[in-house]
Amino acid sequence: MTKIVYIEHDGKSHSIDVQNGLTVMEGAIQNNIPGIDADCGGSMACATCHVYVEEKWLDKLPKAEEAEVDMIDMAFEPKKNSRLSCQLIASDELDGLIVTTPKKQS
Ligand code: FES
Repeated sequence: MTKIVYIEHDGKSHSIDVQNGLTVMEGAIQNNIPGIDADCGGSMACATCHVYVEEKWLDKLPKAEEAEVDMIDMAFEPKKNSRLSCQLIASDELDGLIVTTPKKQS
């Protein structure tokens, strides 16, 4: 299990144990975390799973593929720490990962 901390735009925090191998998006959907809709089911076609990753975790994540970067460009208020949560896979290395959902997705 990987502990993922999901923080809503208003600061409300949800600490969830997500099964390794699932995506951060799937962990949110299974636990009814507000702010992650995942309309496309994880195929990098919607950006409604957009999250801001806490800075200290950025280097621990695999680099975003070009398709993910393109989709983030279309997301609401992208920042340099933006990622698509459907592309982040829970693993021991990411235990404690902190992500914040954008206001627009609330
Ligand atoms: S769920 Fe649609 S891009 Fe991630």
